[in-house]
Amino acid sequence: MAGACARAALALALWCALAAAAAGQTGQWLRAHATFYGGADASGTMGGACGYGNLYAQGYGTRTAALSTALFAGGAACGQCYKLVCDRKTDPTWCKPGVSVTVTATNFCPPNWSIPSDRGGWCNPPRPHFDMAQPAWEKIGVYRGGIIPVIYRRVSCVKKGGVRFAINGHDYFNLVLVTNVAGPGSIRAMDVRGSRTPDWMSMARNWGANWHSLTYLNGQGLSFRVTVTDGQTIVFANVVPPSWRFGQSFASNLQFSL
Ligand SMILES: *[C@@H]1O[C@H](CO)[C@@H](O)[C@H](O)[C@H]1NC(C)=O
Repeated sequence: MAGACARAALALALWCALAAAAAGQTGQWLRAHATFYGGADASGTMGGACGYGNLYAQGYGTRTAALSTALFAGGAACGQCYKLVCDRKTDPTWCKPGVSVTVTATNFCPPNWSIPSDRGGWCNPPRPHFDMAQPAWEKIGVYRGGIIPVIYRRVSCVKKGGVRFAINGHDYFNLVLVTNVAGPGSIRAMDVRGSRTPDWMSMARNWGANWHSLTYLNGQGLSFRVTVTDGQTIVFANVVPPSWRFGQSFASNLQFSL
């Protein structure tokens, strides 16, 4: 059954969702709804609560989504990838047949308690909801529909090149943005070590995909030890040279497995 679902045609997806839910698998198909934002060119999706900044420049493009509170998990979901299909059985009018789209979580869709959850407050807890970049949404939904029922599952993130690190902040406050993370996409823990520092020091999630250290690291080469949410750990030894300045970004040539 698991093998059949891994290769499932879209028509089978809903059956697999129910079967997988019964089996308690991770990455199972689940139900949610999806709307869109940010305009036809997705320009309004730049920035966002994960802190990725310019999504075109960072390689996320227009296949992105803002997640409701229930899915965003305080930023822990930043970078995760989801495959979505429109639930055509529930909504034959606004669902496009036979297509799917995969998006990366780059933003938070906040609740609005002044609107009822079933009449516009789509992102209110406990609803699972994807507010997708419009070009991604239009892959599976018809524009006039505005909102569609979807079934979705977590999938591995496929990335080109290695994990990247951007150093922001100021003295005694290194704010490190981690981007282009393949595999699970999301980070569980992160440590930093300076070239003149004997030990690894743990970093804390500051916001979105930004992790901070309160140590004075100016003038030292930096190594990072990153553990992603499926447990894989990579040491990015001296990925940042001692000449680094705040505001600079550095690409590694290491990447997590799918
Ligand atoms: C919540 O919804 C109301 C009604 O549509 C709107 O006027 C208000 O601006 C919204 N609040 C936020 C924070 O978006």
